[in-house]
Amino acid sequence: MAITWRDDSRELHLHNGRVSLVLAVHENGWLGQLHVGAPLDPTASYRHLGPTDFRGFANRLDEPVGLAVPTAGSGDFRVPALVVEGADGSTVLDLVYRGHRIAAGKPGLDGLPSTYVEDPAEATTVGIDLADPIAGLLVTLSLTIFEDRPVIARSMRLVNEGDTGLIIRTAMSASLDLPDGAWDLLTLSGAWARERRPHRAALLPGRRSVGSLRGATGHGQDPSLFLLRPGTDEAHGEGLAISLVYSGNFLAEAEVGPRGPTRARIGLHPDGFAWTLEPGASFTTPEAVIAWSADGVGGLSDAFHGLFGERLARGAWRDRPRPVLLNSWEGVYFDFDHDRLVEMARGAVDLGVELFVLDDGWFGGRDDDTSSLGDWEVDRRKLPAGLGPLAADIEALGLRFGLWIEPEMVSPRSRLFEAHPDWAIGVPGRPRTESRQQLVLDLSRPEVVDHLETAIAAVLGSASISYVKWDMNRNITEPYGGALPPERQGEFFHRYLLGTYELWRRLTSRFPEVLFESCAGGGGRFDPGMLAFAPQAWTSDDTDAIERLAIQWGASHVYPLSSMGAHVSAVPNHQVGRITPLATRAAVAFFGVFGYELDPRALSGPERAEIRAQIAFYREHRELFQRGRFVRLRSPLGRDDGAWMVISPDRRGAIVAHVRILARPVPPPDRLRLRGLDPGLTYRVSPWPGPSAGDASDGVRRGGDVLMAAGLGLVPEDPPTGAPGGDFSSRIWVLSAD
Ligand code: GLA
Repeated sequence: MAITWRDDSRELHLHNGRVSLVLAVHENGWLGQLHVGAPLDPTASYRHLGPTDFRGFANRLDEPVGLAVPTAGSGDFRVPALVVEGADGSTVLDLVYRGHRIAAGKPGLDGLPSTYVEDPAEATTVGIDLADPIAGLLVTLSLTIFEDRPVIARSMRLVNEGDTGLIIRTAMSASLDLPDGAWDLLTLSGAWARERRPHRAALLPGRRSVGSLRGATGHGQDPSLFLLRPGTDEAHGEGLAISLVYSGNFLAEAEVGPRGPTRARIGLHPDGFAWTLEPGASFTTPEAVIAWSADGVGGLSDAFHGLFGERLARGAWRDRPRPVLLNSWEGVYFDFDHDRLVEMARGAVDLGVELFVLDDGWFGGRDDDTSSLGDWEVDRRKLPAGLGPLAADIEALGLRFGLWIEPEMVSPRSRLFEAHPDWAIGVPGRPRTESRQQLVLDLSRPEVVDHLETAIAAVLGSASISYVKWDMNRNITEPYGGALPPERQGEFFHRYLLGTYELWRRLTSRFPEVLFESCAGGGGRFDPGMLAFAPQAWTSDDTDAIERLAIQWGASHVYPLSSMGAHVSAVPNHQVGRITPLATRAAVAFFGVFGYELDPRALSGPERAEIRAQIAFYREHRELFQRGRFVRLRSPLGRDDGAWMVISPDRRGAIVAHVRILARPVPPPDRLRLRGLDPGLTYRVSPWPGPSAGDASDGVRRGGDVLMAAGLGLVPEDPPTGAPGGDFSSRIWVLSAD
């Protein structure tokens, strides 16, 4: 068993040789945390890492004791993991160990997405009961350690065992106490069209947090935090990261307390949150995933990529090769009809595309974004024959057909809004704020979820639809649950998410063969919660190759390449106006789930030939691009270039990309050192698409050792690539072991 209980010292140790978490029951019954991080010998005791004879904070306020579920009001003045208000209005809790159960496997979480196992041997779970009889509260802390992964999943379940109602005000999914304050905090922050830039700074005394109060995780902050030792880089050094499997309001925070240690916590954002727990009722927090590595930030990303790609994403498409798609949005926006779409699809199939996606504008009377969301019936003006014949015509060309939907929204100009104005979120008697001329439906109401299931299922059943892009283009204002009583309005945001997850669950189980991609104006809800339903997400509305270099670099800290939609679009780019070479647009988009977002009819002959070669190349190496180990080599942030690579699991194949952002005169010698190769293997290194005609392009042979120690030559080029150079130029090398 990967979880051991020592009766003599009352210690619980979660261990698997990759990571350890050691907890101990203190003398006063509180559950202490002695260690989290580096793997420790499971046969030893670690009581010496905590206080001996700990009987609470009496006379020793502020003592930096590590606790598994810190509460407020008893002498620990740092940020709490749990605040529950009792019948008397007090929030003081005294959670005392009652018992625990260790079992193979991992149970699911009520109504919430979570990581899972396919075989109980893949993980071990302990449920630890902590009770406060005065409050009538039972807290079950659930901890799962996965076999051979440096990760631990954690959540809490609260049960009201008393006979009066309780109000949960804070219930964090994870709280970790680290022994000192010498950490850098790295978070992924941005905005629409520039999501997930890594920001790193040393922790200072006090609190530093990121979060969301928008009803979605948002473009602004990713629901994760990385704590890195100051010297930790991509490949070396210690780090610990926590990621929240949730898609709504969240808080991720690190606090360096007055006596020096760090406390990190992540979970539902406590602002505005209040959940009434009636006698007998229970509440489950979302799950947090904790990763530890001594191999730098890259080691933490490896841990998340493996777990999220293999045991969070689920369904038929989890392991299947994802199709190369062409999305209609930037090609034609709202301006299309049946024949135009079929012509686009004809152009796409000629390029080697496998899936044609019809984006926004196919329903109601939607010629722009001022109307029709909610009216999920085909617009017969544009598509007189309907979706069925359109899908059939596209499939007849040899493509699959996919469709855009935005189920959670309603336009004030729609039949749905006319029939059910009360289904749109808003506070009765107050005006509603519109954004993109749309309102959000109140998915905390079960009848709204039922209606959407029926409406969307009717669409998906009406044609041969293989793929769905599920968008969500605005955040929630005037939050108010129409069916909730005044005293339960603090539950609204979480209930919205529970309703949204329920809709996802119903539709993905009714249409198990459909490949779902989540989207929220690009990466506004790209989070582990969504990954549990949709194995891929539209990473950003910004399709410019140079912007994408930074966006995909950032997203890859947490998310695997198999989850990142990445498309080539036309130039000048629609978001930033930049003109980049077609080769570079592809070189960046290859590292993700590849596609195009343009009108093939507008391409020149040479462009068509180049795209045919790009798609053939991606399809040939798809397994590597979608499932290989992704290694970040050079950050494009604040530099003139960026580079990354993918490596096959057996380390016999790899593809490296380097993008020059701005070219500079008289550049100094520069070599790109690779990582993750087998030092004992010899690789054939072939530039792609290959040096200019006439040159032999089967490349040179180089040892894995020298490729990692000295690297590929960028200045001067070694081996020569034949790539043109200049601003926004790119190079790709294919490595294959002899
Ligand atoms: C959002 C998406 C885009 C596109 C439009 C359609 O912005 O992110 O990709 O689907 O909506 O309105």
